[in-house]
Amino acid sequence: MSTLWHGRFEGDPADELMAYTASIGFDVRLAPDDIAGSRAHVQMLGHVDLLSESEVAEVLAALDQTAAELASGDFVFAPGDEDIHTAIERRVTELAGQAGAKFHTGRSRNDQVATALRLFAKRELAAIAADVIALQSVLLDRAASAGDAYLPGYTHLQRAQPVLLAHHLLAHGWALARDVDRLADARARLDVSPLGAGAVAGSSLPLDPDMTAAELGFAARFENSMDAVSDRDFVAESLFVLAMVAIHLSRLGEEIVFWTSEEAGFATLDDAYATGSSMLPQKKNPDIAELARAKAGRLIGNLTGLLAVLKGLPLAYNRDLQEDKEPLFDAVDQVRLGVRAMTGLMSSIAFNTDAMAAAADAPTAAATDLAEHLVADGVPFRDAHAIVGDLVRRSLDGEASLADLVQADPRLGEDAAGLLAPGVPVTRRTTPGGAGPHSVRAQITNFQTRILADAARFD
Ligand code: ARG
Repeated sequence: MSTLWHGRFEGDPADELMAYTASIGFDVRLAPDDIAGSRAHVQMLGHVDLLSESEVAEVLAALDQTAAELASGDFVFAPGDEDIHTAIERRVTELAGQAGAKFHTGRSRNDQVATALRLFAKRELAAIAADVIALQSVLLDRAASAGDAYLPGYTHLQRAQPVLLAHHLLAHGWALARDVDRLADARARLDVSPLGAGAVAGSSLPLDPDMTAAELGFAARFENSMDAVSDRDFVAESLFVLAMVAIHLSRLGEEIVFWTSEEAGFATLDDAYATGSSMLPQKKNPDIAELARAKAGRLIGNLTGLLAVLKGLPLAYNRDLQEDKEPLFDAVDQVRLGVRAMTGLMSSIAFNTDAMAAAADAPTAAATDLAEHLVADGVPFRDAHAIVGDLVRRSLDGEASLADLVQADPRLGEDAAGLLAPGVPVTRRTTPGGAGPHSVRAQITNFQTRILADAARFD
């Protein structure tokens, strides 16, 4: 078996070593990014006269053919191809002979793999941002068409105050807006090329890392070769941002599980986004929402797993760093699948606005409005709270309905009793960012402006 280090070693690597240390099984996914990095590197070598024009052309042609073989599935892997970088270099050398043998000049797999993984993360974070914005657009559409529908707003999962359905939906939308902001931010910070750092210290050859950085579309090149090859902050940050998206999906998922329960009955899933039971004919289950809840745990595991790999590592490259890829690939895949499934679910779910209103129309839902009515008459809020609390307790004890008690109370009376009418309390949430119709109309406009601006950040 031929290895990249065959000159220094007398024997072949053990099968067990290859089985344990090879990463080709998963890093084959970096093939397009390795090819891009390799193209930039070869062009730079030509520019600084380390390769002749014809050698550059030969290597570029070999890279093209290798890329085509990898894309079509015709690429034949060799037993010594421990990772995708080795496999590509081996094939280019087979195809381009002496020119191929020159093409690793001034480069190490250490700066090569860091470059490829940054290119991968840069692309995937942008694609995920676009998917998240698509989910936000669905939430916006559903909010805009929800009109004056309202439901209970909960604290401690106890009914607290009625809120517009649009307000409730956009609460999830704003959480996702912070995710999009974090995706843009993480992406901007990782936009640095490590190529040209070599194994650890740079090179005696006249390499031009600025040229490869520009060629690959990076905003800058590394400042320190040791940091360049050992830095995986960008993977940790990407995993945190993705875990946060997953956590937001899980919280939305929990909402859906509750809303679609027979107990709440606030929403019905479209058949295409629900599952049935193998035994119970009547069942319609919210599996997407449940898996969104569960997979957040997996995403948190990817983040904490990587942080544990990085903790205490000495400078600079260590093979430990190879463990950065699987968590990132898994996080990217799971978040994309989850965001898309949730987008379909939210675009097709039916809201049972009568059930929502009925749950929100309990007279006690207006308790805060009664207290605020007293405050408007000059009663200190603590006193108002106690007065209304006393009426609520008496009505719960069966003395009379809350409406009758309010009507009969000289401090409250007819006007105040009107606040208990169905649908009235939600209209009284008039403060900026509040849950009533006036505030929510402004919020919908602001949300729309925000997602349009966010989409432009990723163009
Ligand atoms: N497969 C390796 C990784 O993912 C590539 C770098 C290997 N470098 C080395 N010095 N062995 O990190």
